[in-house]
Amino acid sequence: MGSRILVFLVVALIQVCTTPAVTNNDDFNALKALKDIWENVPPSWVGSDPCGSRWDGILCTNSRVTSITLASMGLKGTLSGDISNLSELQILDLSYNPELSGPLPPAIGDLKKLTSLILVSCRFSGPIPDTIGSLPQLTYLSLNSNGFTGSIPPSLGNLDKLYWLDLADNRLTGNIPVSTGTTPGLDLLVHTKHFHFGFNQLSGHIPPKLFSSGMVLIHVLLESNKLTGSIPSTLGLVKSLEVVRLDNNSLAGPVPSNINNLTSVSEMYLSNNVLTGPLPNLTGMDLLTYLDMSNNSFEATDFPPWFSTLQSLTTLVMETTQLQGQIPSDFFSLSNLQTVDARNNQLNGTLDIGTSTINQLSLIDLRKNKISGFTNRPGVEKVGVILVDNPVCQETGVTERYCSVPQTESSYSTPLNNCVASLCFANQISSPNCKCAFPYTGLLKFRAPSFSNLENNTYYTVLEKSLMNSFKLHQLPVDSVNLSHPRKDSSTYLVLNLQVFPFGQDRFNRTGISSIGFVLSNQTFKPPSLFGPFFFIGDAYLNFAGEVTGSKKSSNTGVIIGAVAGGSVLLLLLLGAGLYAHRQKKRAEKATEQNNPFAQWESNMSIGGVPQLKGARNFSFEELRKYSNNFSETNDIGSGGYGNVYRGVLPTGELIAIKRAQQGSMQGGLEFKTEIELLSRVHHKNVVSLLGFCFDRGEQMLVYEFVPNGSLMESLSGKTGIRLDWVRRLKVALGAARGLAYLHELANPPIIHRDIKSSNILLDERLNAKVADFGLSKPMGDSEKGHLTHVTTQVKGTMGYMDPEYYMTQQLTEKSDVYSFGVVMLELLTGKRPIEKGKYVVREVKTALDRAKYLYNLGELLDSSIGLDTTLKGLDKFVDVALKCVEENGSDRPTMGEVVKEIENILQLAGLNPNADSASTSASYDDASKGNAKHPYIFSKDAFDYSGGFPVAKVEPL
Ligand SMILES: *[C@@H]1O[C@H](CO)[C@@H](O)[C@H](O)[C@H]1NC(C)=O
Ligand SMILES: *[C@@H]1O[C@H](CO)[C@@H](O)[C@H](O)[C@H]1NC(C)=O
Ligand SMILES: *[C@@H]1O[C@H](CO)[C@@H](O)[C@H](O)[C@H]1NC(C)=O
Ligand SMILES: *[C@@H]1O[C@H](CO)[C@@H](O)[C@H](O)[C@H]1NC(C)=O
Repeated sequence: MGSRILVFLVVALIQVCTTPAVTNNDDFNALKALKDIWENVPPSWVGSDPCGSRWDGILCTNSRVTSITLASMGLKGTLSGDISNLSELQILDLSYNPELSGPLPPAIGDLKKLTSLILVSCRFSGPIPDTIGSLPQLTYLSLNSNGFTGSIPPSLGNLDKLYWLDLADNRLTGNIPVSTGTTPGLDLLVHTKHFHFGFNQLSGHIPPKLFSSGMVLIHVLLESNKLTGSIPSTLGLVKSLEVVRLDNNSLAGPVPSNINNLTSVSEMYLSNNVLTGPLPNLTGMDLLTYLDMSNNSFEATDFPPWFSTLQSLTTLVMETTQLQGQIPSDFFSLSNLQTVDARNNQLNGTLDIGTSTINQLSLIDLRKNKISGFTNRPGVEKVGVILVDNPVCQETGVTERYCSVPQTESSYSTPLNNCVASLCFANQISSPNCKCAFPYTGLLKFRAPSFSNLENNTYYTVLEKSLMNSFKLHQLPVDSVNLSHPRKDSSTYLVLNLQVFPFGQDRFNRTGISSIGFVLSNQTFKPPSLFGPFFFIGDAYLNFAGEVTGSKKSSNTGVIIGAVAGGSVLLLLLLGAGLYAHRQKKRAEKATEQNNPFAQWESNMSIGGVPQLKGARNFSFEELRKYSNNFSETNDIGSGGYGNVYRGVLPTGELIAIKRAQQGSMQGGLEFKTEIELLSRVHHKNVVSLLGFCFDRGEQMLVYEFVPNGSLMESLSGKTGIRLDWVRRLKVALGAARGLAYLHELANPPIIHRDIKSSNILLDERLNAKVADFGLSKPMGDSEKGHLTHVTTQVKGTMGYMDPEYYMTQQLTEKSDVYSFGVVMLELLTGKRPIEKGKYVVREVKTALDRAKYLYNLGELLDSSIGLDTTLKGLDKFVDVALKCVEENGSDRPTMGEVVKEIENILQLAGLNPNADSASTSASYDDASKGNAKHPYIFSKDAFDYSGGFPVAKVEPL
């Protein structure tokens, strides 16, 4: 009996210890190989049983891996041929990992079961392997927004089951391949509904053979390529077409007359080509909503009467098309009409929008025509009419509303759901349901919406509902979505910022993010049809539940180098040799106090607070040791001559950065105290703030707010995966300029930073810029606010950013910071380090500059990820300001306050509100310096929030 129990126990034990791994061995080995070359794989990827122990992003059927979905995981590395061993793999989605790079392995063609290959917005490069054409089950192929080069492999024509083909936004060249007797081509894709090839460098003619009546295509998007020749008449055979974009090519010749046989087409763009012949007659295209034929060379013609028969038309764009005569007033009675843009034509007579009720009409832009009168009718005041540069506005004394160009920019943001926005700590954001959380963010881009009135919020409400329905349908843990800042980019895509908030907790886990990413990357989410084809560009998610964020040291160096600890003391002492001597003497006298310079503060506590310390808290060594997990290596996020910087988490969940001085760079206690007093007075939204310090057990540490998105330098170099488009760059420049202006003009004593550079400008969750590292800072002796005198010092700074005048004269003024800031502005424009391959950015820009030319002739120098496809509004002014900052003579440079004003003006010109996400500088400074006769040992919330009570939820996410 006893032995039987023993046997039973032994058997049971063996079973527990050796439960066979569920996962097929080949599959495990393939995943392990991927894991070994990727950085930032999910922490759940441990052990040898991906299926049994449920590795995040991996799905199995029986023992075989069938799906890999890892959208927005921050993966870094390349895709190796090992992937081909996953012979049962059906879905591979690695979208939104902009640090996945290198070529796609040809062995990917061995994945015979693959149905979905989705690699949106990574940084893959090299040719698209033609082996992809031998994936018989492939249904979704999305390679858009990468860096693929070479031509479209003809073999893709073999993909019998292909439904979705998106190759847009790469650098593909060559012809669009069609079949010959011996080779396949895209004309064979008779089951494919989507050809998305826009924003490449495809050239040659659009082959007539590409289209045939047997096709089921609904979207043909060839915009912004280098296509030549004429539009083939075979296009008119594809009756299923709904969206046709051929704009921004060099297509010539007449538009085939059978184009109006495409009666299902809803959006059609033929603009920006060199089309000739008569304006095509589109009678019969009754579903046409959006028509753009601008900038072609059509024969001059009267405004055609058949326009008035297009009953679905919302938008007519006919800029520079030689239209003449009068616009018939019955045209404006089209009940869906929203926008008429017929700039730069020969339209004449009197503009009369007729007597019928103006339905949705919101804009009539007839600039640069020959219109001599305007009939005012009731209701017309709701419509934006622009008649600038017409005779009717050229009469002297005309001050009519229609003789100026109104600024319109929708500032929509999903309204709050009957609640009051929460004031969230540091980087969390208040959701539409007023819960603080870390949302998943990204851009929704619609390639051909059917509407143009961006001020009609109905559209966004509809879209929000449809997103939520889709997330619910797929049982994703989503609480709410926020859509904001709808805008058209220059390719006329409709762009919206999307924030997806987690349900039930304040952050998503890995599965949540990869599932939401997949719903958006795989087109599982179908927006209402009036939005047309879309794609999503997700950001990397940084706040996974149950994980300390960004535990890879390499990808986070310099996340926070808040400041000091090191050399600044010396500089403080340089305030004056006399002062130094005086201090030395005092120190000798007060040996006891030196042993504990904080003794005085401590005794002050009992008599009611310490005015010199504004919200900085005294941490014990034990506390910081605990918060940083014993200063563990995984929390080590950067190091330098002064020591190391560690990430830590306060019991409140707040992230902090701890700068720990190492032995050799330790300061004397008094200097350390002086430094803390100085830094604790610096309170500004755009300056990294000191939360506390530790002077305990012989250690000196400074505790800063944690700034999650790393430095501007890292983002410009592509390291963080954050795309800095033009508007974001403007906002970063404004934030940094405000921070610096504050140090110069409002801090007391004023501070010269001395080491302004892109690696000392950190970006927070909402990409607000924060000036960091006053390691070389120089407080000015003259305490008169705003009046800085110069100080002679030993020259310090960083090559490439250093003011040449300061270098030569050793006379430091605030204008030296202005110079460095000018270099940072040029860095923002070019994406280049100030000195790269022996070239100095200041000289490069000055040499190339030609103010008479487009983009000041700087097109070649501009950073390609600035969004060259968008209108770079205000770029010329930005260049002007930057060049003023880097003038040889300090006296010719503007003050930082002036720079702030200039950048604010540029943002306003670009139609954006420069104050959208910031409270006034001086107010936040004053707030921080008043009400703070506070106890320094009490954790002060003020230290985290300088937004002056501005509801954080309303802050623009840009
Ligand atoms: C347009 O379509 C109709 C039938 O759908 C066909 O009879 C006609 O030939 C087509 N016209 C052209 C010019 O292709
Ligand atoms: C345009 O086409 C329609 C029908 O095909 C025809 O009735 C009309 O006369 C044409 N208009 C012009 C201006 O050619
Ligand atoms: C408008 O232009 C048309 C064609 O260019 C011309 O025939 C007509 O006389 C003009 N009408 C007016 C009122 O100028
Ligand atoms: C807004 O759009 C909706 C849906 O298209 C439409 O019904 C409504 O009339 C529009 N409102 C305005 C003011 O244009």
